[in-house]
Amino acid sequence: MKRFILLAIATVFFFFQFQTNAVNALELNEETRTIALDETGKTTIMSDQQVSNGNRIFIQNCTKCHLQGKTKTNNNVSLGLEDLSKAEPPRDNLLALVDYLKYPTSYDGEDDYTELHPNVTRPDIYPELKNLTEDDVYDVAGYMLVAPKLDERWGGTIYF
Ligand code: HEC
Repeated sequence: MKRFILLAIATVFFFFQFQTNAVNALELNEETRTIALDETGKTTIMSDQQVSNGNRIFIQNCTKCHLQGKTKTNNNVSLGLEDLSKAEPPRDNLLALVDYLKYPTSYDGEDDYTELHPNVTRPDIYPELKNLTEDDVYDVAGYMLVAPKLDERWGGTIYF
């Protein structure tokens, strides 16, 4: 039993190492780091540092439900660019994703999800996010727009 636990810990540790190193080791080119800023078509360029910080936060807080940008429990609402673009309001840009992490809504924009989806506005319900700074929120939002360029399996459904 003890050996099993050690093995489990080692596996988890290895997985995290692997995931973080994958991005840390990369020096992404500018095109990869250029993402949509808002709905008007303006763009912004993330730094390697911001992408890797966003990746770290994503792994810590989001991967358990959004491994590879898919959504466990709701296959119709992945983090892929196509799904993001069809949300109301469209979420395929940095500011709209920052907004989602503060005030999440249902896909059709009708319902307030601040009590249902992790966000930084309700640390009483989501204490795991209470230490995220404004920059951290920005970085993890930006990471979700860089990720599809790093992994072609990003988004879509969990049934391949
Ligand atoms: C407990 C599981 C869970 C965790 C943890 C979680 N999410 Fe989600 N997320 C969901 C579900 C379920 C949906 C779909 C909600 C709906 O039905 O609209 C969703 C939707 C989203 C959407 C909207 C996608 C779209 O296409 O409109 C974004 C963006 C998002 N999550 C980002 C994140 C980020 C970033 C984190 C980590 C800080 C995170 N989520 C953590 C379950 C989770």
